[in-house]
Amino acid sequence: MRVLDLLSPFYRRDVINITDFSRSDIEYLFQLADRIIENPQMYHGKLVGRILGYAFFEPSTRTRLSFEAAMKRLGGHSIGFAEPSGTSIEKGESLKDTLKMLDAYSDVIVVRHPADGTAKYAAKICENPVINGGDGKFQHPTQTFIDLYTIYKEFGKIDDLTIGVLGDLKYARTTNSFLMGLTNFKPRKLYLISPELLRPREFILDYLSNFKIKFELIDNLSEVIPELDVLYVVRIQKERFPDVSEYNKVKGAYQINPKVLSEAKESLKILHPLPKLDEVSPEVDNTKYALYYRQAQYGVFVRMALLLSILLEDAPL
Ligand code: CP
Repeated sequence: MRVLDLLSPFYRRDVINITDFSRSDIEYLFQLADRIIENPQMYHGKLVGRILGYAFFEPSTRTRLSFEAAMKRLGGHSIGFAEPSGTSIEKGESLKDTLKMLDAYSDVIVVRHPADGTAKYAAKICENPVINGGDGKFQHPTQTFIDLYTIYKEFGKIDDLTIGVLGDLKYARTTNSFLMGLTNFKPRKLYLISPELLRPREFILDYLSNFKIKFELIDNLSEVIPELDVLYVVRIQKERFPDVSEYNKVKGAYQINPKVLSEAKESLKILHPLPKLDEVSPEVDNTKYALYYRQAQYGVFVRMALLLSILLEDAPL
């Protein structure tokens, strides 16, 4: 890891697209998150008087609550809404005016929305930094920071690992964002594992190719599971299918369970952005393979690091 500058590369920056961030930006966050985990007391009170505004137009457990927890642990406050009902959107207020109000009342804004490009639009109309809390099908950059951090914490590196990404690679923004984020590193090989209907879009594959990332599209996990260091699993995103009959064709297409894992390396780690449904059997939760609950815990520390780096020019390293 390079020697870090004292000035934050995130200071007052919008966090919209994972492709806007370099390896050294990501490593800066890793280092700050490490410091926070080592010495949490040192960071209490660093954001006293600061306000995080959040506008969630889609359900969330982890993203919203971990941002709130992060802000609270730093001494700041959060305001916002977890769903549009109860706001003046119900009276017909526009997205623009709603976001402008959060901009007026907060120092940094997190937006989640079902439509691709909403966070970019928010950043255009807001003066304060906007963080994409997941929009549309392709971007969830703060989840990707957490995913990469989890791998780095477990393996001490991201380079040279063989990584399988399993599931709905067409509609899941977490995996699309993760794949693009991985291009900052040099994984040995990626296996993109999904039913044919759920294969990644061409532009994602082109993006990987442009960065000379070695990948293979397959539909059967058992062919490659003995090779994997990391298996990143994502649920089928039923809510994003334009046609429910298409969803019915792939429903239940894969499940990780002890039998599937019997062929895996002892050191395999399973990541999942959560929520998980039936694609991971609950029997896996208490095994050495499951890293997803720790991944979610890291979410608070990575988001603390991000908020500090956006709001303080010389984030305390
Ligand atoms: N990983 C994630 O984005 O979870 P939530 O939808 O619960 O925020």
